[in-house]
Amino acid sequence: MKAVVVPGFAARPELVDLPTPEPGPGEFLVRMQAAGMNPFDWKVADGALRDVTPHTFPLVMGSDGAGVVEKTGPGVTRFQPGDRVYGQFMRLPQGFGSYAEFTLAEQDGKVARIPEGLSFALAAALPTASVTAYQAVAAARLFQTGVFLINGASGGVGQSAIQFAARAGARVLATGTPDIAGYLRDLGAHTVVDFTRAPTHEQVAAAYPGGIDAVLDLITPAGGDIGPMVGLLRPGGTLISTNYATDPDALAASLILGVNISNDPTTETLTALAEFAAKGDLRVRIDAEISLADVPATVAKARTGHATGKTVIVLR
Ligand SMILES: NC(=O)c1ccc[n+]([C@@H]2O[C@H](COP(=O)([O-])OP(=O)(O)OC[C@H]3O[C@@H](n4cnc5c(N)ncnc54)[C@H](OP(=O)(O)O)[C@@H]3O)[C@@H](O)[C@H]2O)c1
Repeated sequence: MKAVVVPGFAARPELVDLPTPEPGPGEFLVRMQAAGMNPFDWKVADGALRDVTPHTFPLVMGSDGAGVVEKTGPGVTRFQPGDRVYGQFMRLPQGFGSYAEFTLAEQDGKVARIPEGLSFALAAALPTASVTAYQAVAAARLFQTGVFLINGASGGVGQSAIQFAARAGARVLATGTPDIAGYLRDLGAHTVVDFTRAPTHEQVAAAYPGGIDAVLDLITPAGGDIGPMVGLLRPGGTLISTNYATDPDALAASLILGVNISNDPTTETLTALAEFAAKGDLRVRIDAEISLADVPATVAKARTGHATGKTVIVLR
């Protein structure tokens, strides 16, 4: 099978031929139809989790994907050949990922069936970004008319978070450049903050001098200065980081709830999000559909930023 791998940490991705894996007990083989790309994929390939879990090289890149069950191993009762499934397929200790023609999943893993009416490409674009957004908005404890800033709203996580927060009744402030502002408003943003015009925190502080209720920060890296975001919150507010940039203990002294989100899709969450997307209640913008051969160049380009939607690898 064709797959995109890295031969070691921080190596350039390569398109290679690998043996198609055989499902063992509790595993099933998925013929991938589409794989969704996320910044997390190259952060992991660079070694972000090297101290957290063992990795096997060559490591097939990628987590998100969608496909058809090809074959089941002993003891698999929840899935059968022909099922359309999607979810997260990254298994670092085994070297498995989603940027491949086939991958092995566990029946108790982060996988759910795809409902009628949802394409493989859209399903593959959902898991990491939309589950993170869903869990982050739940953690924000939003209420009707609460003011919620999404810093980094123009990317994959942010676009889903705008929709979940707007549906919860919050007034959503979303960062974005003028070229994408209309689209972000259409998703549910009340105000689009052009972060290239002046620092986001200065613009928001000027508009809401009494403080806002919650911030989802998708930009500040671990160890970065998240102080400007903290300064926007009223006492009792919530700060959520997707990059482990908050220190909940330090924030507690200022009566602010700090949350570091690590997405953890359950089959139930994946099923709910797929239903939303199939009904058009969750919109996901696919910027580009590429082939496996395009991945090395696309990863190099994606490292420079400027995501305005999802990139999906089409494998069929
Ligand atoms: N903990 C978890 O479970 C988890 C899960 C998913 C994602 N993440 C992390 O969360 C972050 C966001 O993920 P994503 O998939 O949404 O990334 P993405 O698709 O690359 O989106 C990031 C967006 O932020 C914009 N941006 C860059 N600098 C900005 C600034 N200073 N102010 C406002 N916006 C700015 C980018 O636009 P330009 O590049 O055009 O400036 C881009 O549209 C990443 O760091 C990712 O690794 C963590």
